[in-house]
Amino acid sequence: MRSYKVLTVCLGNICRSPAAQGILEFVASKHSISLALDSAGTAAYHVGNSPDSRSITALKQMGIDISQQKARQVSIADFDSFDWILAMDKENLSDLKKIQPEHSSAKLVMFGEFSEGVALGEISDPYYGGEEGFVHMREHITDVADAFVSHLNPRRER
Ligand code: 4NP
Repeated sequence: MRSYKVLTVCLGNICRSPAAQGILEFVASKHSISLALDSAGTAAYHVGNSPDSRSITALKQMGIDISQQKARQVSIADFDSFDWILAMDKENLSDLKKIQPEHSSAKLVMFGEFSEGVALGEISDPYYGGEEGFVHMREHITDVADAFVSHLNPRRER
């Protein structure tokens, strides 16, 4: 079975990218695809912290436990250790492009636009809003994760 190393990246690594990591792990486990996942933030504000409790709760409601994740900042080495680096929004993508080494091997893309013909948009930052924003984030990430796994494994049954 082909295996891919995938890093999800947002700003703080406490709301969106830990959720994307957990949801991608869940979606991949239901289909015959092996993903080795991690997540990181472009900023260092929350390094060492657990995910935001609103993200933990929103994912727990779909049977996914992300409570053991710990935030870290993205590193230069990530650009060679991962096959894919998935940015949650345009600002994350732009910040990552600024530090991406010239000949690094990872495919750096916006999560919602990982290939031509797929445009599921930016994952909006729910941090300053209410809990409903985290439910919306969960639904949006699930749609993109399904499409991403189909992209990696196009013959899988949906
Ligand atoms: P995230 O959300 O990038 O999805 O983890 C945020 C978390 C923290 C902050 C901003 C966004 N912050 O400014 O502390």
